Amino acid sequence: VEGFEFGIRTKIVFGKGRFEGSVKQFISSDPTRVLVVVDRHFEWVGRDLAPRSTLYIHDGKEPSFELASDLFRLARGCTRIVGIGGGSVIDLAKVAALAPTNPGELADHITGIRSTNSFENSPVPFMAVPTTAGSGSEVTWVSVLTRAGRKIFINGDSMFPSVAVVDPELTYTLTPEQSAVSGIDAFSHLVECYISTHSNTLTEAFCEKGLALAVNNLVNARNGKEEARDAMCQASLLGGLATRAETVLGHSIGYAITSRKPIAHGIAVGVSLPYVLGYNLPSIKAEKLRTLGRIMLGEAQSEEGFERLLLYRLLKILAELGLPVSLRELTIDHSDLPAMADECVSSYPRLANPKPYDRAAVELILEKMYSGSPFFYQTGVSDNKLRP
Ligand SMILES: [Fe+2]
Repeated sequence: VEGFEFGIRTKIVFGKGRFEGSVKQFISSDPTRVLVVVDRHFEWVGRDLAPRSTLYIHDGKEPSFELASDLFRLARGCTRIVGIGGGSVIDLAKVAALAPTNPGELADHITGIRSTNSFENSPVPFMAVPTTAGSGSEVTWVSVLTRAGRKIFINGDSMFPSVAVVDPELTYTLTPEQSAVSGIDAFSHLVECYISTHSNTLTEAFCEKGLALAVNNLVNARNGKEEARDAMCQASLLGGLATRAETVLGHSIGYAITSRKPIAHGIAVGVSLPYVLGYNLPSIKAEKLRTLGRIMLGEAQSEEGFERLLLYRLLKILAELGLPVSLRELTIDHSDLPAMADECVSSYPRLANPKPYDRAAVELILEKMYSGSPFFYQTGVSDNKLRP
């Protein structure tokens, strides 16, 4: 077995009904200098639990660099930060937590696309409370922001929240669409990180458990079943932990989609998933692929051609969630595909993608995604052009 390192700086509190006591306790030490970054749908939580704190209500827009810069200024002098919302809110709060301890403007600390350890000082105590089951951002070391039409990734040990409170009850009021869109993001993290060549014993264990939970509960969670939403909160948490193994091409293609269409991150990475798995199938280790088949297909897994069933299963999950399965459905212009391939290769390279790829390979995947060709899964991986 290959050696590995794994560590996060976040204490995880999981359980129904846990958020209220946890938030109150966290801010009680210095209630006047707390900044609460909160999603507009959960404004009441901020007002109710932190009446003397500064509230920043997030309107659901893409977390842009400009927005993060404003928040960075607002957070100066604060001694506690709380982020209550989806991945966007938590990613913004991560940046805010660094403002009180790092002088200057956000732009002074951010230079390139990846800004590892660009902050000299550790953040102030910071509590992340996810209200969706998807991004897993409460346990990751990255904040993803949009700057000049491209994603930038601020990562490093200083990005971890001090405490993550995952309370499934907060997800009970999500609409079916919100549940589907966030759930498929968690599912994408689990699949992509499982097949990543940077996976290790721990991240693989997280993925296997998370995938089993997700595959059995994604659709029921969308349909409002509370136990299924509890399960998806666990799957999302496991997916967040697994991202230490890094996501692969699906997330690159997802970013290239959202830089053209104002759609949710989950929709964009979800539509990419069957095609990216299809491309990578020949390069995934046999044992890993068999385990993936067993989790995804259960008893239906057959000796011959189960790869085809695996891709079909992914398309079926997307359809059952009411999510698009092709780029055409997303009204992406076919003439945009070459530029999208360029963007994936130049802006979002993936060292951990199992099968090597170049610009032409990405364009071919995008072609398949555009047509959403049933041929893609009917012929499986045995005779399509994606095979080396
Ligand atoms: Fe994601």
